[in-house]
Amino acid sequence: MGLINMQTINTIQALRAVIKEAKLAGKTIGFVPTMGNLHSGHIRLVEEARKQCDVIVTSIFVNPTQFGANEDFGSYPRTLEADSALLADAHCNIVFTPTALEMYANGVSQSTVVSVAGLSEQLCGEHRAGHFAGVATVVSKLFNIVQPDKAFFGEKDFQQLAVIRRFTTELAFPITIVGVPTERAEDGLALSSRNGYLSTEERAIAPAIYKALCQLRDAILNGQREYTMLCDATVLHLQKLGFDPDYVAIQQGQNLQPASATDTDLVILVAAKLGKTRLIDNIAFQIPSAL
Ligand code: PAJ
Repeated sequence: MGLINMQTINTIQALRAVIKEAKLAGKTIGFVPTMGNLHSGHIRLVEEARKQCDVIVTSIFVNPTQFGANEDFGSYPRTLEADSALLADAHCNIVFTPTALEMYANGVSQSTVVSVAGLSEQLCGEHRAGHFAGVATVVSKLFNIVQPDKAFFGEKDFQQLAVIRRFTTELAFPITIVGVPTERAEDGLALSSRNGYLSTEERAIAPAIYKALCQLRDAILNGQREYTMLCDATVLHLQKLGFDPDYVAIQQGQNLQPASATDTDLVILVAAKLGKTRLIDNIAFQIPSAL
């Protein structure tokens, strides 16, 4: 059973009033930004926020500025009723559902943009021009609107989490960023709103991404260090299964720079299209110093 008093608010002004009241009452604010079509990965973020904060705000906003011209902004699933039921069950207090006009009163090509140079241009940024500037700008705006003590993001979107951590530090937002581990289906596929685009046949193939990530990790833990060769072999393997990979990369966990054979804090990241659906996943791990 959900809390009866979950509120849905769609204006910045009304949200600010409620947050102000909660802060005056000494409550801490936990914030979970989403684009809706919620699944148990999102709910895991809400549960973590519930553990750490008094008042939980979840935003649902399909942000136009982070989608490329040929991407799925128009067809992205909008399922507010089902989302609200899940959030109430997870004891969320406030659902913030602004319109595009509310979020971008000056239009989506507003003059001010938050862009994180370097980090945003590689990996997914190389294949989705402007995507991370769209994310960083909307998350900055949401941070200014909600003014949370803590904000919760999934490790599933590893590069997004790195971009958000970076601008939060560099722009001195007084907000603690909490990363939450990836929620997976039983067969290993990382949960994603975009999994709904997969056909039955594609859904059966999709878990091969996580399997390939685990195999790469194990190869590295078994002493292999020829990272370029390992990534090339994985690209080929995924192609044979029917994927169209954008990249397979072995990077340093802290700064997402390419890893060398002596680095021990690693993350392997994959982005691959399967039919019309673009899937991403990653696995982060340490090489024990004895190896
Ligand atoms: P969205 O894709 O809806 O994801 C919202 C949050 O849920 C993100 O922090 C994402 O990393 C997390 N998440 C998604 N799938 C997950 C899974 N399987 N396990 C754990 N966490 C998962 O990411 C966005 O929206 C947007 O870019 C946003 C940050 C809201 C800015 O518009």
